[in-house]
Order: sequence, then C-alpha cells, then structure tokens
Amino acid sequence: LVLTSFMLSPRLSDGMTVIAHRGASGYAPENTMAAFELAVEMKADYLELDVHLSKDGELVVLHDETLERTTDGAGMVKERTWAELSALDAGGKFDPAYAGERIPLLREVLDRYAGRIGILIELKKTALYPGIEEKLAELIEDYDVAARALQAGQASPIMIQSFDRESVRLLAKRLPDIPRAVLIHPDEHPLSPSTLADLATYADYINCYFEVLDRKLIRDIHALDRKVMAWTLRDEREMERIARLGVDGIITDYPVWGYEGK
Ligand code: G3P
Ligand code: CA
Repeated sequence: LVLTSFMLSPRLSDGMTVIAHRGASGYAPENTMAAFELAVEMKADYLELDVHLSKDGELVVLHDETLERTTDGAGMVKERTWAELSALDAGGKFDPAYAGERIPLLREVLDRYAGRIGILIELKKTALYPGIEEKLAELIEDYDVAARALQAGQASPIMIQSFDRESVRLLAKRLPDIPRAVLIHPDEHPLSPSTLADLATYADYINCYFEVLDRKLIRDIHALDRKVMAWTLRDEREMERIARLGVDGIITDYPVWGYEGK
C-alpha cells in the first residue's frame, strides 16, 4: 500500500525524541528513500538507518549483511560492488507497489535529508568491515555536519549508534562532537553499575531493548547524566507504557502516534 495521506495526531509527550526505525518502516520498505520520505512527512525527529560496506568500499544503507530478505539479490553485501548493489530492487519484497526502490548510499541520504530530519546512523556487523568507522568519520567530516546543522538550526543533525562498543568508543575519539549511542542487546541485561559507568565514559545515549526497561534502569542512566532510548516499538500500547516510564526517546517503525491507518 502506498500511503498518500495520513493524519497527524498528538505526540507521545513533548520533548521526547521520536525516531523512525529504518525510516517509517511500518509503512514503506525499510532503509529506502520511500521510508525516509515518510519519516519526514510524519514529522519524526530522526530517521534511523543501518550501514554496511560494499566490496568497493561504499557505505550503503540496508539492515542485513545479506541481500535475500529485502532485495531481489542474493549473497553477502560485502561481496558486491556498489554498481551491483545499486541495480537491485529493495522495495518489491515489501510491497510490489514499491518496486523500483533502491539501496541508498549513505551519502545520498545525507544529501537529501540532513537538515530536514535528524539522521541516526547504525554501524552494523562491524567485524565484517575493518575500518568502517574511519570511512564513516571521513564521510561525516567531508560532509561538513557543523555547517549544515547551523543552516538547519539543529544542534546535531547526526547521531551514531552500534552494538559494537569498541566502534562507539573509537568514534567518540574520532568524532567527539557527534553524539553517539551504544545499543544494548536484551541478553546483556541486567547491566552492572560498573558497566553502566564505563558506557557513560564514551556514549551519550544508552539505547535499550524496550522490554528490559524499567524506572530504576532509566534513573540509573539519568544519574550518570546520559540519555536512554527504547527500541524497537511496534505496538501502540507498549509505546505509551514505555513513554510513561520516562525514556528520552523511542525508536519505532510507526513514527506517527495514533495514525488511523496503522
Ligand atoms: O535502533 C535500534 C535498532 O535499530 C537495533 O536493531 O536490528 O533493527 O538494527 P536493528
Ligand atoms: Ca538499526
């Protein structure tokens, strides 16, 4: 279903950041320009996307390290050149109405969306891509984030996140002005006080799977002067519950709260 119009209704709460997970991926094929465009239209604060590296070293936007689930291609992303990846269809498997959507380059997303919506960049499967942090750092520097932020009146149009704590630590040193988050897998809970304190030395956000969040954990993170976002909300009532707990942001496939066609 291609959405052409929708109703905007009140947000979960003022001041809470709403992040469109893989774009507005509840409504359009994840990690495509169609999903990112909807995230803007739905007035999300950020779009979230996932990044891998092509065989010829391009930062490309898709979730899996393999092509089968979301495209008409097959095999590993890292074994395909950008020319090969750019020829694939990344929309038809979600809905034939979206056939023709492509895998975007990260640079293309920055070109189109920086300044219009925040961009939360997740580095995926970093073990497969030695040096991907430096590639990202060079792109962001080259992109002149500061100038674009000023132009758009945004404090920071870009954030970075990863499950890989070493990547986040490295990026904290390499790009100290870019806010970053560590993603915490449910298997890693409960986090010990010393782990939390260590994460707080290099991460601005500690982003937790929503089911493990409770008031104490949120309080502990806030006591370290760090923020917490919940991932990934796909149920309206759960979203409401998590918002009430006092998180700083939610990462959701459905950035329009109360959208009647959901
Ligand atoms: O932003 C949190 C979320 O994106 C992490 O999980 O697998 O959807 O990238 P995943
Ligand atoms: Ca992600």
